[in-house]
Amino acid sequence: MPGYLPVLWHKNLTSIVLFDSHFLRMNSSPIDYEVLWQAVLALPSHLSPYSVHGPDHWRRVERNALILATQSGAIVPVVRLFALFHDSRRENDYHDPQHGARGAELAKSLRGNLFDLSDEHFDLLHYACVWHTDAESHDDPTIATCWDADRLDLGRVGIVPDEHYMSTALGKEIARHGSIDPWLPLLAAAESRCWFSLIVFPILLMFIKILLVFKMIGWFFIEIYELLTGKRTLMQEYGPEEDEATDDDEEENRWIALGKTLSALVEESSVVS
Ligand SMILES: [Fe+2]
Repeated sequence: MPGYLPVLWHKNLTSIVLFDSHFLRMNSSPIDYEVLWQAVLALPSHLSPYSVHGPDHWRRVERNALILATQSGAIVPVVRLFALFHDSRRENDYHDPQHGARGAELAKSLRGNLFDLSDEHFDLLHYACVWHTDAESHDDPTIATCWDADRLDLGRVGIVPDEHYMSTALGKEIARHGSIDPWLPLLAAAESRCWFSLIVFPILLMFIKILLVFKMIGWFFIEIYELLTGKRTLMQEYGPEEDEATDDDEEENRWIALGKTLSALVEESSVVS
């Protein structure tokens, strides 16, 4: 096992647990990402399928965003949609300053037909797409995650990601390390925990609840049976508890009895003398 994995697991264990809620939201989302991807890929495009800003790049941005979201707290549907739309309307691989705005407009045109988002979340998606090449950093965790996920894939064009252009703590850490590869198990672990949360854990919880209900019903009937058959009276069951002599009490009583005996002997001897 590579040496970094135990450290990585230890550092990100809390994140994996917290990330369950993100994956639950992601999987319970009504968005059918595959249908949406096919719809966007079917649109006329100026880019070749092998473009450095094409679908392969979008998939890596999505992967990066999901890994970053384990710690940033980003809204998962927004970062997944950003990955799909942010470069989808590029017209070339060079200078194309309006491509982010065109991607945001494409998302706007498909919203309500192929996917849905609340106004608040769509505003985040729209802003992230429009400004992803012009702005340096952002404090909002979802926008920050989108931009870091995109910039962490700069290695494909021979540019080393710079931590100073990252907005999230994990983005900076990955940029310092130079590769996202050590963090890939984090995503797999989160996904496996997702299935545990979605299927195994609810079944276990239901099973425990059923056992507890049966235990309470059994206890109720045993109590009624013992009261009705006279095995126990209400006074025995609910009356004051009788004091039980402890070892200390018995020891004290023995010393008192011994004292009384000695006193009697002393009195008797004095009478005799
Ligand atoms: Fe991009």
